[in-house]
Amino acid sequence: MKFFIDTANLGQIKEAENLGILDGVTTNPSLMAKEGIKGEDNIHAHYLSICNIVEGDISAEVLSTDFDGMVAEGKKLAAIHPNIVVKVPMIKEGVKALKWFTDNGIKTNCTLVFSAGQAILAAKAGATYVSPFIGRIDDTGWNGVQLIEQIAKIYNVQGYKTEILAASIRNPNHIISCAEAGAHVCTCPLESILGLLKHPLTDLGMVQFLAAANKMQ
Ligand code: E4P
Repeated sequence: MKFFIDTANLGQIKEAENLGILDGVTTNPSLMAKEGIKGEDNIHAHYLSICNIVEGDISAEVLSTDFDGMVAEGKKLAAIHPNIVVKVPMIKEGVKALKWFTDNGIKTNCTLVFSAGQAILAAKAGATYVSPFIGRIDDTGWNGVQLIEQIAKIYNVQGYKTEILAASIRNPNHIISCAEAGAHVCTCPLESILGLLKHPLTDLGMVQFLAAANKMQ
């Protein structure tokens, strides 16, 4: 399973990249706004900065909601860097735009996916990635990881090439469950990635080994 970081914060992206296990980055309008990025030139410059830190797919989301607007915006985003993946929402105009990008050799990430039916449409439109938002599903009292399992089963049976990108990750356990459920990629906040490191027995073992190491000097 590939690891993407889900942020537009350059410091966090650098920290994850320095771990040596990062495969890409996802952003969305909320994450970009959180960093105070405004205006097309600044938005494009920020995506380029991310591309210059991480060698891997970088999702950049369109802000338009109509086909023509999404295509025009997506073409400009894709021109920023070869690793840009155009992120398109799962709406009717978005499906048409996904197909257009597929037909024109531009990689896509279909976002705001909450059902198996939506994931089938994304795959039929040739999306490179489909992003089921598992944390937001959990927030409603349903089970987000079950959706990953269902999509993985359907894509396997049907032979769809679209990669399942588990999104809206809330904790390290989500990452483990998504890996078990068959996600190809997990996009995570830095905190959840670092959370995978933690175990009290590792901490205890380190205290014991360091005490022993002191006696060896
Ligand atoms: C994915 O690409 C989205 O940006 C993200 O995972 C959404 O997560 P949230 O539900 O924490 O906003």
